[in-house]
Amino acid sequence: MSDNMHVDVGVTINGEARSATVEARTLLVHYIRDHLGLTGTHWGCDTSNCGVCVVSVDGQPMKSCTVLAAMVDGSEITTVEGLAGEEGLSPIQQGFMECHGLQCGFCTPGMMIAADALLDRNPNPSEEEIRDGLSGQLCRCTGYDNIVKAVNWAAAKRQEATEGASS
Ligand code: FES
Ligand code: FES
Repeated sequence: MSDNMHVDVGVTINGEARSATVEARTLLVHYIRDHLGLTGTHWGCDTSNCGVCVVSVDGQPMKSCTVLAAMVDGSEITTVEGLAGEEGLSPIQQGFMECHGLQCGFCTPGMMIAADALLDRNPNPSEEEIRDGLSGQLCRCTGYDNIVKAVNWAAAKRQEATEGASS
C-alpha cells in the first residue's frame, strides 16, 4: 500500500526477500530493526558519527541512519545476522572471538560489517590501513587494539581459505 505518506520497500536481506510498507521518512536502520525485526544492527548516535548502524548495501558498507529505506528499495543487504554461513561463523566473527575484539559489544555489529568490507577491498591490510578503514566506527569501550588484532586474524583466515580453495 503506497500513498503520499507511505512507501513499499522490498529488499533481499541476508539472502531472504523481505518487504514492508513504511512511512516515507523511515530511515534504513529503523526499517531493518523495527519493520524487519533484525535487531543485530544497532542504532546509536543518529548523526552519522558512531558507525554502529553500518550494514552492507549492494556490497558497500553504509551507515543505515543516513539513508532512507525507500532509497535502497530493491537492494541486497547484509546485516550482522547474515555474516555466518552454513559452515558456521565467518572469519571476521571468529577473529573477534579469538582476539577478544569486543567488550560491551555495542559497536561490534557495525565494526564487523565494516571490517568485512575492508577485507573485501584489501585482503591483506597493514595495521595503519585497518585503523584507517575503521575510522568511521567508534568503540566506546576503546578496545581498538584487539579489534585490529581481530581483523588481522580474519585476514589470515580468509587468505588460508583462498589458498586452500586454489590448491
Ligand atoms: S547511529 Fe548511525 S552512525 Fe551512529
Ligand atoms: S565493545 Fe563496547 S562500544 Fe565497542
